[in-house]
Amino acid sequence: MTDTNAQPRVLIFDTTLRDGEQSPGATMTHEEKLEIATLLDEMGVDVIEAGFPIASEGDFAAVSEIARRAKNSTICGLARANTKDIDRCWEAVKHAKSPRIHTFIGTSPLHRAIPNLDMDQMAERIHDTVTHARNLCDNIQWSPMDATRTEADYLCRVVEIAIKAGATTINIPDTVGYTYPFESAKIIRMLLERVPGADTIVFATHCHNDLGMATANALAAVEAGARQIECTINGLGERAGNTALEEVVMAMRVRNDILPYRTGIDSTKIMNLSRRVSQVSGFPVQFNKAIVGKNAFLHESGIHQDGVLKNVQTFEIMRPEDIGLTAKNIAMGKHSGRAALRSKLKELGFDLADNQLNDVFVRFKALADRKKEIYDDDLIALVADEQTNDAYEFLQLKKLRVICGTEGPQEADMILTIDGTDHHIDATGDGPVDAAFNCVKMLFPHKARLQVYQVHAVTEGTDAQATVSVRLEEDGRIVTGSSADTDTIVASTRAYINALNRLIIRRQKTAPGEDVKTVTYHHGE
Ligand code: KIV
Ligand code: ZN
Repeated sequence: MTDTNAQPRVLIFDTTLRDGEQSPGATMTHEEKLEIATLLDEMGVDVIEAGFPIASEGDFAAVSEIARRAKNSTICGLARANTKDIDRCWEAVKHAKSPRIHTFIGTSPLHRAIPNLDMDQMAERIHDTVTHARNLCDNIQWSPMDATRTEADYLCRVVEIAIKAGATTINIPDTVGYTYPFESAKIIRMLLERVPGADTIVFATHCHNDLGMATANALAAVEAGARQIECTINGLGERAGNTALEEVVMAMRVRNDILPYRTGIDSTKIMNLSRRVSQVSGFPVQFNKAIVGKNAFLHESGIHQDGVLKNVQTFEIMRPEDIGLTAKNIAMGKHSGRAALRSKLKELGFDLADNQLNDVFVRFKALADRKKEIYDDDLIALVADEQTNDAYEFLQLKKLRVICGTEGPQEADMILTIDGTDHHIDATGDGPVDAAFNCVKMLFPHKARLQVYQVHAVTEGTDAQATVSVRLEEDGRIVTGSSADTDTIVASTRAYINALNRLIIRRQKTAPGEDVKTVTYHHGE
């Protein structure tokens, strides 16, 4: 039996709250960011990249608070290659027991052209900014953005400069998800061989998934000597996303014969984090997603089912419980009490405060009156809905009745509470959802466009709860909202209202178009 504790450690750097949150629509509230950071900290993530402090007051506040609260993880903030960004970043992370500044600049020919710096000018900027950061903090990460499309000689030159100026971690980003695994490994090997001082720092790998190779690229980099993997929960991130934390952790666990490294991650917390990130970001996990997809441990074909029943290892390379999926799916019913609910939720990874448990219990009883059996997924949807709607609620659905059927027009009759005052209205529409949404629009006029409307049944059966997610866009600001209910129209209306509540918060925080203006982040200053 292999003693994995004796194996070299690969650090896990989670950037769900920075690179992940950067995906259009994946906006999280302040409280949600704090909650996710706490879960990451408890899970054993070595470094949490908590945000980009100069990007907004909201980002600054979240990074500062996460830094204050973190018990185990190093807390890192992102900064472009200028002193203003770096100072602001330090102001936010300095509260952490273990703070880190992560500063970056695009070094490939395409990226050098944007700030219009030649090779020498950029080299000087790197020297100056890394030196400045190191004078503030002794844990500095530096990234040559678009490293995989940077000339090899120039990459070696700038990495050497950053190391001499005091960087302690050098991250090699495949910013546009362009690399092949063998190239990813080759770059790390080259840097280790050619750059003086390379053996004194940690190399990190940061891969995007545009060609579906992010996880393979990250693992290839580790094989070549990288000792930090940058990743996000569910692979959340811009465009096709980032390396998924759950994939690299489980790949190193299952194929420890090939990659004999260990991480400090408690893998049994993966499923809970995956669900929570999906809920707060509004990005559903695809059913066939590796490790955390709903189908990842389901066996449909007769041959597979037969094999699994005889010996689970015939078709499963890991156990569901390794990622925190409860093997038991005991149905709860209307006679189950508060203690049973608490213990079941704990088993599912939710440790709720008393007042939250009380609210969930009331909703659980109401659901049990309508639905014969309550499954794990029902409870997860219920808790998620409670947590989602726990945030600031300027708009609240008080009452909704709809008339629908083959004979139109469909009608909705609604009471909407706006900032504490009830407003009543009825409206017609092209279907009951349209009628209900029209009521909301008439009572709370806005310009937001509905970009996505998705309905999923949580479990089987016609009495199943529906989870609905909606995505709205207004002046370039993108927000998502979600809700669950056995009544699809109620879930839809609540999801719409939830997105509008987030839009109201977002309007106060960001200038119009900020969600689509990713270029500011790509520049050196
Ligand atoms: O993808 C990228 O290059 C980044 C950098 C800021 C590290 O996210
Ligand atoms: Zn990135």
